Amino acid sequence: MVKICCIGAGYVGGPTMAVIALKCPSIEVVVVDISVNRINSWNSDQLPIYEPGLDDVVKECRGRNLFFSTDVEKHVYEADIIFVSVNTPTKTRGLGAGKAADLTYWESAAWMIADVSKSDKIVVEKSTVPVKTAEAIEKILNHNSKGIHFSILSNPEFLAEGTAIQDLLKPDRVLIGGRETPEGQKAVQALKEVYAHWVPEDRIIISNLWSAELAKLVANAFLAQRISSVNAVSALCEATGADVTEVAYSVGKDSRIGPKFLNASVGFGGSCFQKDILNLVYICESNGLAEVANYWKQVIKINDYQKNRFVNRVVSSMFNTVSGKKIAVLGFAFKKDTGDTRETPAIDVCKGLLGDNATISIYDPRVTEDQIQRDLAMNKFDWDHPIHLQSLSPTSVKKVRVTWDAYEAANGAHGVCILTEWDEFKQLDYQRIYDNMQKPAFIFDGRNVIDPEKLREIGFIVYSIGRPL
Ligand code: NAD
Ligand code: UGA
Repeated sequence: MVKICCIGAGYVGGPTMAVIALKCPSIEVVVVDISVNRINSWNSDQLPIYEPGLDDVVKECRGRNLFFSTDVEKHVYEADIIFVSVNTPTKTRGLGAGKAADLTYWESAAWMIADVSKSDKIVVEKSTVPVKTAEAIEKILNHNSKGIHFSILSNPEFLAEGTAIQDLLKPDRVLIGGRETPEGQKAVQALKEVYAHWVPEDRIIISNLWSAELAKLVANAFLAQRISSVNAVSALCEATGADVTEVAYSVGKDSRIGPKFLNASVGFGGSCFQKDILNLVYICESNGLAEVANYWKQVIKINDYQKNRFVNRVVSSMFNTVSGKKIAVLGFAFKKDTGDTRETPAIDVCKGLLGDNATISIYDPRVTEDQIQRDLAMNKFDWDHPIHLQSLSPTSVKKVRVTWDAYEAANGAHGVCILTEWDEFKQLDYQRIYDNMQKPAFIFDGRNVIDPEKLREIGFIVYSIGRPL
């Protein structure tokens, strides 16, 4: 029986390994992590992450050929294939701070693999890493005196949160990069055989190591660039009376452009887009490609501009101040169908409103009060960021209430901001919300989920991203 061990039981490691276990009953899959809490949750009925369809997959496989453990060394020692799916955040200090990827977690995993292994192994980069990371990892792993050989593969993950299980079951592509040596190609074939259990052969792409590493960063940069492009256009629409939803629809009908990822928004969030573009920018700069670096930086600048623009719109519409006013925030997660708040635009918008002394009442169907309070109290690393991204004083945080009901959040509010596109926000009784708000009642739709005309008929003053006022 082939044994797989995955280091890192996070948003990628957990769902990815659960689907491998589901589709490959003949393979034993163990997901290990240094976080005891995380592993305990994976072994309980309350999984550590919310992802539609994940519970069913885990229930079917856990205890059969899927296991979660904190005994990292034992399972690494026993494995034939080791996936490394640890976090690779942006460096906050030292060389490259604010841009380069922090590979501390990856490096410590690699040293541990080198220490405990007693047989040849395939080590798979699942985390998103800078191009050429495999070369550094090879140095750590293969400079051992034990006479064992490690083959390093790059197999970046393209799942999106909220649709992870579907993305894993029917991936657009699986990408495997390996060395062009006989051992390298043998390792590529071994990993390909795992995916071939359910992924059609023409969707498994084989490339060299550096292309695979770079393709992941570039894919995220392209996706984020589309959002920044449509968000830039949304500002122009507001200035001209065009409607960004109509413009995006017409543009997306061109089969060369396509309709996906053209929804204007308050800005993109999530743990990866910004981090991976910064990483790309740093790699470009390190290779002396300042113009290329500046090109990609602009994607992030527009994203910051869009978040600021939203805050400014709220404040300026409400007679140039929100001081002492109650603002209801509907949605805090960085997108619908996840409880993840990493880099969510809601953090920036809330901090901006608190900076103008508003009182905020937040409702999100999947994010806990603890998480929200922690996010708003936390310092965020600063990269060419405007003023409102500074950390907040404890008094500001006291101005934040978290509710478990959208109506309660909006009760007595002067304004409502929709910051996540949860489906349930389309179904709310907006007449009821309006009746219980201060007048004039403002609504700011940062996700274009509501019909502005219907709300105007009720009596709201409506602002929707990129649509006529
Ligand atoms: P995460 O923070 O949710 O999970 C990482 C886990 O690794 C944590 O539980 C941490 O405790 C564990 N860990 C760190 N060092 C360890 C060590 N030495 N030994 C054992 N466990 C260790 O991160 P994530 O969202 O799953 O992302 C992981 C990687 O995948 C990142 O590089 C990210 O860029 C990439 N990625 C993420 C997504 C996504 O949607 N979240 C999608 C594609 C790729
Ligand atoms: C993204 C990519 O889509 C995945 O392919 C990739 O694997 C992953 O990053 C990663 O490397 O971590 P994810 O961040 O989970 O996935 O979610 P997305 O659906 O890409 O959304 C990212 C952000 O963009 C969200 O805040 C979302 O609301 C926003 N968005 C998305 C828009 O504002 N407009 C759109 O049209 C689409």
